[in-house]
Amino acid sequence: MGICDSHMKLSPASADASEIYFHRPQSWVEKLDWSQVFAGPTERIHIDIGAGDGTFILGLARLQPGTRFLALERLLGRARKISKRAFKQGLSNVRVLRIEAAYAVEHLFPAGSIDAFTVLYPDPWPKRRHHPNRLIQPGFLASCARCMRPGGTLAIKTDNTPYFEHIQKVLTACRELEILKNADPGILTPITTDFEAEFQKENRPVHFIAARKP
Ligand SMILES: C[S@@+](CC[C@H](N)C(=O)[O-])C[C@H]1O[C@@H](n2cnc3c(N)ncnc32)[C@H](O)[C@@H]1O
Repeated sequence: MGICDSHMKLSPASADASEIYFHRPQSWVEKLDWSQVFAGPTERIHIDIGAGDGTFILGLARLQPGTRFLALERLLGRARKISKRAFKQGLSNVRVLRIEAAYAVEHLFPAGSIDAFTVLYPDPWPKRRHHPNRLIQPGFLASCARCMRPGGTLAIKTDNTPYFEHIQKVLTACRELEILKNADPGILTPITTDFEAEFQKENRPVHFIAARKP
């Protein structure tokens, strides 16, 4: 029995909560079955990419108990923190996948199954020679679009102006998605993350862009 199958039987007192809400795929090359990931029916699925300490996804999971949330995070310590916090807060609609996000989006998510993606403050890789490491690239956006349901949304925020200009360019060029000109960050990203709070304190600009799959 995998950790995900057993999590409902564990209590905070009896278990190490740091990996209880992890999802461990049975295969790393086959598409996930969402009803197995979330151990039950899935009406709406929201993926938070590069979830950090989980402040955003956990806050939203509390606000939207009918939605299933999957946090993608490549750092083990951060992934564990999200799982632990979700378990302590009793957020049974949250799972954590410790993975490189571009791989998950390209290989693991079934086509037409995801209602919302958020990418909040992705690592900006400011040096020019590191730009190929940036997550948001044409191929990544095409993979996101493939996984989205018609009407599904992708919302992105960054404080890094050159990265934002790059994102605007590649998102505008993505034929499978249309930019939402009047998208409201208060609706698509209604939780303030720790990063965002820091930027607000320092009066740094926050750039927001969103798109939908027609
Ligand atoms: C700057 S932090 C932002 C965290 C969070 N989204 C927030 O707004 O508070 C970026 C996070 O994305 C994770 N990350 C960066 N690139 C990633 C990738 N390719 N796949 C998965 N996680 C990634 C990092 O480990 C880090 O936790």
